[in-house]
Amino acid sequence: MAINCTWLQPVFRSPILKLVFPVHTRGLYVSNTQSSGDCKRPTRQQQGAGGIEKELMSLDCKVAIVTGGATGIGFSATCHLLKAGARHVIINGPDKEEGESAVEQLEERYGENKVTFVRGDVNNCSHFEGLFEMAKNAYGGVDIVFNNAGILNDKMWEIQVDTNIKGVIRGTLLAFKHMGKDNCGKGGVVINSASIVGLQTLAGAPIYSATKYGVIGSILNFGHKFHYERTGIRVCGICPGVTDTELISGAYGKQLTPEWNKEATRELSQLPKQSPDFLGQGLVYIVRYAPSGSVWIVEDSKILRVHIPELKQISKLVTKFD
Ligand SMILES: NC(=O)c1ccc[n+]([C@@H]2O[C@H](COP(=O)([O-])OP(=O)(O)OC[C@H]3O[C@@H](n4cnc5c(N)ncnc54)[C@H](O)[C@@H]3O)[C@@H](O)[C@H]2O)c1
Repeated sequence: MAINCTWLQPVFRSPILKLVFPVHTRGLYVSNTQSSGDCKRPTRQQQGAGGIEKELMSLDCKVAIVTGGATGIGFSATCHLLKAGARHVIINGPDKEEGESAVEQLEERYGENKVTFVRGDVNNCSHFEGLFEMAKNAYGGVDIVFNNAGILNDKMWEIQVDTNIKGVIRGTLLAFKHMGKDNCGKGGVVINSASIVGLQTLAGAPIYSATKYGVIGSILNFGHKFHYERTGIRVCGICPGVTDTELISGAYGKQLTPEWNKEATRELSQLPKQSPDFLGQGLVYIVRYAPSGSVWIVEDSKILRVHIPELKQISKLVTKFD
């Protein structure tokens, strides 16, 4: 995907974004204009089967993997998947205590045997594949993979690139291997965690932002109908806006220079901040309704669909070589 800054800034607040519903409302509301904030109830025709769009997957009895699911957005996603009817969620992460505490809280809310924590690393292929094997042995397979694990740490940029891009690609390839219809699987959905700064710059944390642009590429490519028709797996993307988690509260001091730290803090402070709860709601919406290859922003308690323009819409002939 070719994107440049002259395209980005106007586009981000332009009609290529469509507000689908304010995430905090229980009913589904629709508006065709982002700026008006004037949401109205959809007609029955607009709702389709079970919502604004046609429902592509029900959460009932589904089995999910959420990487980095012990904290922040991953924890909220796990809550909302279980609340919506998922049978079991396997979460992973590097910290055993954090994982055990998450399981305790989740089982208190949603009942016993609903969630398993596995200490592990998305950068380790056998750890990651072990999650799929565990799901297969215990529940017959996986239906939903949320490639959520990520870090914001430009000082440790090589680990950041590994985790934010290679981890997401690894999770997508493992999903193809274990869930793909072409491999005797039953299909499903993969949601890759990008960011609003995968669609616009974050100059103070340029490497983090670059990893998220890469994740957008993973969604568009793996979500292409060439792959969907073969695997039966929808690959979709979520772009959280600034969300109140450890990743944001701990960001200061993790950029490459003191000036870059200040700039990242300045840029992030100008954006609306939301609770992780909205991301869990947004994730469930995407699982239910998002077509393969689609990208969704959850920002300021709203969900917006991103329409990525074709190359010819964002380029202009300058000269022609002989
Ligand atoms: N918080 C925001 O404002 C925001 C905005 C846009 C995108 N995101 C993205 O959302 C995702 C979740 O972030 P968050 O805000 O909930 O932060 P968080 O720090 O609470 O969650 C990240 C989780 O990933 C885990 N993790 C990190 N490296 C891992 C690895 N190698 N293997 C397995 N697990 C690992 C962490 O232990 C943690 O549980 C990230 O991909 C992040 O880039 C966050």
